[in-house]
Amino acid sequence: MKASENSGNLSIPASPNAVSMAEVPAPWMDRLGRALQLREESIRQRTISPASGLDFCSNDYLGLRGDPRLAQAAYEAAREYGSGSGAARLLRGTTPLHDALERSLATWKGCEACLLFNTGYQANTTIIPALVGPGDAVFSDALNHASLVDGCRMAKANDAHVGVYSHLDLPGLDAQMRAWRACNKGLALVVSDGVFSMDGDTADLSALLQLCRSYDALLLVDEAHATGLLGPSGAGLAELQGVLGQVHLVMGTLGKALGSFGAFVGGPSLIVDHLLNTARGFIFSTALPPPVVGATLKAVELAQTERWRAIKALGFGSRLRAAFGLAQLDSAIVSLLVGDENQAMALSSHLQGRGFDVRAIRPPTVPLGTSRIRITTGAHLEERDVDALIQVLRGLV
Ligand SMILES: Cc1ncc(COP(=O)(O)O)c(C=O)c1O
Repeated sequence: MKASENSGNLSIPASPNAVSMAEVPAPWMDRLGRALQLREESIRQRTISPASGLDFCSNDYLGLRGDPRLAQAAYEAAREYGSGSGAARLLRGTTPLHDALERSLATWKGCEACLLFNTGYQANTTIIPALVGPGDAVFSDALNHASLVDGCRMAKANDAHVGVYSHLDLPGLDAQMRAWRACNKGLALVVSDGVFSMDGDTADLSALLQLCRSYDALLLVDEAHATGLLGPSGAGLAELQGVLGQVHLVMGTLGKALGSFGAFVGGPSLIVDHLLNTARGFIFSTALPPPVVGATLKAVELAQTERWRAIKALGFGSRLRAAFGLAQLDSAIVSLLVGDENQAMALSSHLQGRGFDVRAIRPPTVPLGTSRIRITTGAHLEERDVDALIQVLRGLV
């Protein structure tokens, strides 16, 4: 990412007192300069490009991000409680809005209790090492989100065993758990995305639960791309698959379908209490700002009462998949596999040039040779937008 590009729109000049390159020790300059150059040469350098064109790439599935009712709720919360929370939750950072949001998420998700986190990344990297340690094991789907992967890395640093099973391969998971159990007495945790973020396919939660039961294992499901979208009330994949209230721990994000920011984990009070006492990303971080919490409370209400939003977003996803002969999935994520990184980048910039904001996804975010364009659909779009994209894509993929 180039910092200058980030602030370019605001024309903020660089500070005359900014640390100059000359201050950076030479070995560091060498190492970082070489790493950046390698990235540039392999076209893997990440840059921030501003939003432009029709939004076919954000996770604003319900189109709530720009809803004036969320802005009004944020304004009222700021008036009442201030623009920042001022402290961590366990100090002065909790307002009645934080409590209300945790209660309303717990009710919606069929959980006894719920705990807010500042981001999904923070939640996943914090929850996993708070649950497993020496002698224990965590088993993770190979295509899980980077935050779950990093949570497993943290657990490994805690001396837990980490087993990665092939994507959706439950017999493979069973074999790994059996082999581990044969020589270990510790506790096991299985972690999986509900809807996989880069492919849009889904885990079989009933089958995962059944497997977990036979090893007394806990199941943690990341519902980031399902919360607000799937199930009759939008409670997520667990609701859609008829296991609401059965998955031990459900994590979800608030910055995607709910159009706000933050994350939560819901589950039995005992486990949520344990996390409140041990999850370092919860304990040692300033609480979500009241305006964010106020807006999210409104979004949770609207996600349940305006189900047309989810129906519209999912319908557009189906329309796109049908147009390209892809198998139908329970998600608003449509991945068009390209394979080659350069071709995926070229396709994305072609679409950008035609007014469609569609982004390429490349390794290491996805496995080598599976570069793709990842299209997302949302209630902010119209049928004519989707058909126009299909029209342009037809000649290209
Ligand atoms: C499956 C999944 N989990 C967690 C996260 C992280 O959530 P956040 O953006 O709130 O950090 C993401 C974000 O893209 C995600 O796709």
